[in-house]
Amino acid sequence: MSQKILVLGATGNVGQPLVQALLARGQHVKAASRSGKPVAGAEGVVFDYARPETFHAAFDGVDRAYVMLPGGHVNSKELLLPVIQAAAARRVKVVLQTVFGVDADDAIPYRQVEIALERSGTPYVILRPNWFSDNFHNFWKAGIDHGQIALPAGTGKSSFIDVRDIAESAAVALTTDRFDGQSFNLTGPEAVSYADAAQLLSEVAGKPVRYVPIDDSAFVEALTGAGVARDYADFLASIFHPVREGWTAAVTDHVQTLTGHAPRSLATYVRDNAQRLR
Ligand SMILES: NC(=O)c1ccc[n+]([C@@H]2O[C@H](COP(=O)([O-])OP(=O)(O)OC[C@H]3O[C@@H](n4cnc5c(N)ncnc54)[C@H](OP(=O)(O)O)[C@@H]3O)[C@@H](O)[C@H]2O)c1
Repeated sequence: MSQKILVLGATGNVGQPLVQALLARGQHVKAASRSGKPVAGAEGVVFDYARPETFHAAFDGVDRAYVMLPGGHVNSKELLLPVIQAAAARRVKVVLQTVFGVDADDAIPYRQVEIALERSGTPYVILRPNWFSDNFHNFWKAGIDHGQIALPAGTGKSSFIDVRDIAESAAVALTTDRFDGQSFNLTGPEAVSYADAAQLLSEVAGKPVRYVPIDDSAFVEALTGAGVARDYADFLASIFHPVREGWTAAVTDHVQTLTGHAPRSLATYVRDNAQRLR
C-alpha cells in the first residue's frame, strides 16, 4: 500500500484526528473539504459531495478513502452513493462511517448505502459509531453555558464514543487489510445517562449543569429557534427514539478489536476537553 489515502470531511470532528493518526503512521494523505485547505500538514484537495466534477481530482492517486456524511445532512443515499460508485469504479478501498444501529433494518437509508458498498466489489470496512462524546462541546455547548442540557432522551443511556477512538479505529481499518469485508459497531466503554453526563460536566464547567428531559416538539422548536433547518431538527429528534428505548446503551469491544486498546470513557473525554466545555 504505497498510494494516498483520501480523507473526506478532513476538517471535521473525526476527519481532523484521523488525518493526524494517518500522518503519524507515515501515510500519504489527501485531506478533502470544500475549501481544499491543508490539514495538519497533509495536502488539501477540493471535494464537494454536491459537485461530482470534484471527484476525479480528489480520487487521483488514491487507493483508499474514508467516506462519511458531513453533519447537518439527512440525505445519506443521495450524497454518499455517487461517492461509493466513484470509489468502486477505481477499485479504491472504502472505509465508510455510518451510524450505530442502522443495521437494524435494511430499509434505513444509511443501511442501503452500506449494502451498496458491500455489493460494490471494492474492498471495504464499515464503522458504525454510537453518539459522539464530542457532541457535548459542539451541539450541546450552548445549553451547557446556560446550565442545562435539554434533550428528548428520557432516562436512556448511551455508550458515548470519543472521536479520537473513531479516528484511531479508522486509521487501522485504512492501513491494514485484516478487517476488510467487516463491519464494526463502535462504542465507548460504558453506557451513561444524560443526567450522569450533566454531573460530569458540572465538575469542569465551573457551575451546575442539569439534564432536562423534554419532548420532541419542544426540542425541534428550540433547534429551529436557534437557526437549525427544520428537516435536520426533525431528523435529530427522531434519532433520540433509540436512546429512549435503551438501544444506544449497548457496549461492544470493537474499538479494542481494531485498535488494541480500550475506548476512552466519557469522564476521560470531559477531562481532556475541559477548556472547550468551560
Ligand atoms: N455526532 C454524532 O453523535 C454521530 C454519531 C454517529 C454517527 N455520526 C455520523 O457522523 C457524521 C458526522 O461526522 P463528523 O462530526 O466528523 O462530521 P463533521 O465535523 O460535521 O464534518 C464536516 C466535514 O465535512 C466537510 N463538508 C461539509 N459539507 C461538505 C460538502 N458538501 N462536501 C464535502 N465536504 C463537506 C467539512 O468541510 P468544509 O466545511 O470545509 O467543506 C468538514 O470537513 C454524521 O453525519 C453522522 O452521519 C454522528
